[in-house]
Amino acid sequence: MPTADALFPPDFVWGASTSAYQIEGAVRDEGRGPSIWDVFSHTPGKIADGTDGDIACDSYHRFPADIALMRELGLGAYRFSIAWPRIIPDGRGRINEAGLDHYRRLIDALHAAGIEPFVTLYHWDLPQSLQDAGGWTNRDTASRFGEYVHAVARALGSGVRRWMTINEPFIHSVFGHLLGIHAPGLHGVRPALAAGHYLLLAHAEGMDALRAEMAPGDEAGIALNLAETAPATDRAADLEAAEHADVYANQWFLDPIFRGAYPTGLLLQFGDEMPEIRADDLRRIAQPIDFLGINHYQRAVVRHAPLVPPIDIVPVTPPGAPVTATGWEVYPRGIYDTLTRVHRDYAPPAIYITENGAAYDDRPIDGVIDDPDRERFIHDYLLASLDAIEAGVPLRGYFVWSLLDNFEWNEGYRRRFGLVYVDFATQERTIKRSGRWYAQVTRDNGLSG
Ligand code: FCB
Repeated sequence: MPTADALFPPDFVWGASTSAYQIEGAVRDEGRGPSIWDVFSHTPGKIADGTDGDIACDSYHRFPADIALMRELGLGAYRFSIAWPRIIPDGRGRINEAGLDHYRRLIDALHAAGIEPFVTLYHWDLPQSLQDAGGWTNRDTASRFGEYVHAVARALGSGVRRWMTINEPFIHSVFGHLLGIHAPGLHGVRPALAAGHYLLLAHAEGMDALRAEMAPGDEAGIALNLAETAPATDRAADLEAAEHADVYANQWFLDPIFRGAYPTGLLLQFGDEMPEIRADDLRRIAQPIDFLGINHYQRAVVRHAPLVPPIDIVPVTPPGAPVTATGWEVYPRGIYDTLTRVHRDYAPPAIYITENGAAYDDRPIDGVIDDPDRERFIHDYLLASLDAIEAGVPLRGYFVWSLLDNFEWNEGYRRRFGLVYVDFATQERTIKRSGRWYAQVTRDNGLSG
């Protein structure tokens, strides 16, 4: 039996997350158009192991088997994303009914298994034709997103009660438009700030579309990656770097959504490079959301680095800190700090942890994947999340990233985050030890120590 103090609230939602491009494959099936990730992953040198998402986990075809795995894990909810280029292959105009039908089947099958769909509308796979017209550096893309959300919500809304507009606008803006390590591979402060603003505007368009189509009681929000920042040393320059880093890592997107204004620190440094912000933009962006999704992996320990433009800050790993296979620090207290800070400073009506998890170098031995590190990671982050609930944070659910090992963006298939191991040569799935353990957590609604 779990100890009493490790029990979660009775209606707590236990889930796992994925995203379309990372698991679906079937990139040319049933009328899907190309996305920026097809183009990027097929560009030589962009993906660490030279792979792409053409097949990935083939979950487009294998979703019934994947739902059977979710049942074995005892999931109450599954967070997945809809591929925009399956619904509007050219980015504008014609709606592809075959794409909608696919998600209808997926959603029906989830309901038949007693699993609630949590749907992300944009997890980075922009139709390539919209990229050809400027992508997220073009204000028009936000309107195209609004049209897409209308089409999806109208067709699928009867089966979906929880929606997220955009996944991690920070990572999409910075990795995709400043550092060039994600699609579409742009490099520049201006494209990154434009992407940030137009993704926020797309969130507003998406909320408007959802509000117009949703039934009473349905809920909509956004998923942000958030992490408290900390200085690498107590030198004044590092203390200041940690404060500045908070502006970029957290306030950049939280402030417009919850306060209707960009943080002063961002405007002071980059005001001249911001795109045109029209009179009504921030009011629309700040419309109420029903819940905030938080994706949390690691805190951000930073140091002042005068030669690293544009912000003169670099992340560091504290010496001796435990890290995962991606080199990310394991620091469970960070999820408590993030949850309590967001609750204190922004007070969203409800919060879900929409992603948390860890990559480790899993290897099957005699068909068994023994991954105690991942089990320990999730256990400790859950305990810290429970502390946050006890401190008054309205945390309603927790989703492990990820259900399956999958295509980890620029890292390819070499980073395994799944509760389920995938042999990419055969597509065979095997529940890892951590998955068996998570099944116990979902069954007990808590931790048995
Ligand atoms: C997040 C992404 C998700 C996955 C995890 C590891 O930033 O939302 O798709 O790549 O990181």
